Amino acid sequence: MSKLFSPYELKGKTIKNRLVMAPMCMYSAENGLANDWHLTHYLTRAVGGVGTIVVEATGVLPEGRITEQDLGLWDDSQIAPLKRIVEEVRKYDCLIGIQLNHAGRKSQTNGTIFAPSPLAFETMQLPAELTKADIRRVVESFRQAAIRADCAGFDFIQIHGAHGYLINQFLSPLANKRTDEYGGCLPNRTRFLHEIIEAIGSVWPKEKILSLRVSAEEYHPEGNHVDDLCEIINSVKDSGIDWVDVSSGGVVNAKINAYPGYQLPFAQTIKEKTNLPVTGGGLICTVGFAEKALNDLNLDFIYMGRELLRNPYIVLNQANELGFDPEWPFQYKRAKNTP
Ligand SMILES: Cc1cc2nc3c(=O)[nH]c(=O)nc-3n(C[C@H](O)[C@H](O)[C@H](O)COP(=O)(O)O)c2cc1C
Repeated sequence: MSKLFSPYELKGKTIKNRLVMAPMCMYSAENGLANDWHLTHYLTRAVGGVGTIVVEATGVLPEGRITEQDLGLWDDSQIAPLKRIVEEVRKYDCLIGIQLNHAGRKSQTNGTIFAPSPLAFETMQLPAELTKADIRRVVESFRQAAIRADCAGFDFIQIHGAHGYLINQFLSPLANKRTDEYGGCLPNRTRFLHEIIEAIGSVWPKEKILSLRVSAEEYHPEGNHVDDLCEIINSVKDSGIDWVDVSSGGVVNAKINAYPGYQLPFAQTIKEKTNLPVTGGGLICTVGFAEKALNDLNLDFIYMGRELLRNPYIVLNQANELGFDPEWPFQYKRAKNTP
């Protein structure tokens, strides 16, 4: 019996399989609005049979976008096109969530950019240090975006706490040099994330899922390592984190020895030490590899990113290898390779 193709129950939802489409910026939005590209892109992967889709990093504020072409949820006008995507994707029994993000010092938008400390990322623009009033504004923008995500009908929100964006900047001693209650020791550096979780939790329906993406390793001796992330997650999980998505890197430029599955041991450690459902991934390109990783490391979900860009129908095409016979959309049935 394939683990990849066995359903998973999370907060009363049945997720049909363990393959997650990783969030991937499409850099195709204008004014933060989703359009036909986004609909086609997400719908194709739902038709292709993935169990869960995480919609790309979506800015909670204009200056919180990674680029001017990112999706946004800072304005009510941005709800309707996302709602359409949710409604269409849902027709294929696919769970769909949205990743809420503030890019902080890694924002390439026009105008002032913000960070915990006035330290530029590499050769990028120097950010302004967030005042406490600025912090309150950002936290409030996550709350407002969560209300809009609920209006759009998303099954879950994923808080983007990874890849060196604003939340990760607060968490990391490499980017956070503050001397107030948001900097210094690990509980202080976690305060911003904690406030965001609480703000989202105050409006996000209790029965819906809240996920957190983390960078489990910063690949720098003075940066966070997986045990720090376990401590961080354990300190916030009671505020309502239901699912952890494990990635790595991005706070500083570092040389990473990347190979298929290189981040999976981090996911395994986080699962063992936090007892939360985890998604692991990175350079995974076949359902066979995903199945083995789920079994060998006792993970709950596997994400695929780039392979799903190359091969949106991977579930339909490769499920047979694991003895699973997925339902094909009736329009494509004549193309099905029967086992
Ligand atoms: C085009 C592209 C855009 C990405 N955008 C995001 C993003 O919006 N949010 C995020 O957390 N990760 C993003 N990532 C990272 C992916 O989610 C994933 O972690 C990474 O690609 C490794 O998985 P893979 O080897 O299966 O592609 C992006 C990756 C790619 C290739």
